[in-house]
Amino acid sequence: NLVDKGKIESKCGSNIALIKYWGKYFPQLPANPSISYTLSESFTQTTINFEKTTKFSVQVFLGKHFNEKFSKKIEKYFLSIKPYLPFIDKYKYIIYTTNSFPHSSGIASSASGFGAIADCLVKMSTLLGEKNNEEFNKAKTSFLARLGSGSACRSVYKGLVVWGKHKTIPGSSDLYAIPFPFEISPVFKTIQDTVLLIHEGVKEISSTLGHDLMKDHPYAKTRFTEARKNLSELTMVLQKGDLETFGRIVEHEALSLHAMMMTSFPAFILMKPETLAAIKKIWEFRKDTRHHLYFTLDAGANIHLLYPEEEKNEIFPFINNELIIYSENNKLIKDKAYF
Ligand code: PMV
Repeated sequence: NLVDKGKIESKCGSNIALIKYWGKYFPQLPANPSISYTLSESFTQTTINFEKTTKFSVQVFLGKHFNEKFSKKIEKYFLSIKPYLPFIDKYKYIIYTTNSFPHSSGIASSASGFGAIADCLVKMSTLLGEKNNEEFNKAKTSFLARLGSGSACRSVYKGLVVWGKHKTIPGSSDLYAIPFPFEISPVFKTIQDTVLLIHEGVKEISSTLGHDLMKDHPYAKTRFTEARKNLSELTMVLQKGDLETFGRIVEHEALSLHAMMMTSFPAFILMKPETLAAIKKIWEFRKDTRHHLYFTLDAGANIHLLYPEEEKNEIFPFINNELIIYSENNKLIKDKAYF
């Protein structure tokens, strides 16, 4: 209330889903629960300068460059969350944001971006006199991030994060994400994620449109039921440390996401010939070597290669020599789960 102006900073990791969120209801509630890893090297850093004003406005700079589209989008977002942050339109904002990873790299900048902005806003609310309770603030940050981009609510925590109510996950909610509440096997704490950049173009389908396509999708009901079942099974697997079943579920989820896009009206095929060729190569490698290399996909052609750190010395050379040929510009992003 007394603060006329100030500056807040935040850093937030992107995430990759193992069980996919694809399909939602108003207001940004998931049709099925999802679980993701927050990433360590792929993050967004955001600074918000705020100043009291009678004319609310938001200016967003990506790096050094003013971005009109993002400014409009964030302005709209700020007004939409006024019921939860009544002070929000009493200030004007200049936001500087940078990503550690390249644009359209197959890593979700909306997740880390909204995660960082929501974190700044909750910090700002405590500066303005809101009570400062760490656990509550985290949940509120996740709740607000969700209203920006659904998957962003999972980026607010490190490690494995669950969003969406599920009977086997105590405390889970459709309104915000929670850290995976069980002790997981050490092998899953050091999971490597190397992203094979098959195609660096802009996304052909916005996730908003993608979620909408699930509304009249012929297989929607089955998909949502199956995602729940997969999450139950994965919950056990993560505690037991069963890498084979982990891989089977995670690959099945990635292919199911793309199967949903391919069987929607209109249909979308986001995988490229190189995506399929690389997947075949991964399967062959696994058959030949028994190493635990698995893949997942986001809504795009790029492949997230998941494997345990213990097998890095055998698996990374295979990626770097034999899978890299499928990448458009010989590019990989070396990341890992952030714990
Ligand atoms: O958060 P959104 O609306 O951009 O949706 C993200 C959907 C996927 O990335 C494809 C899957 C997920 O769970 O992250």
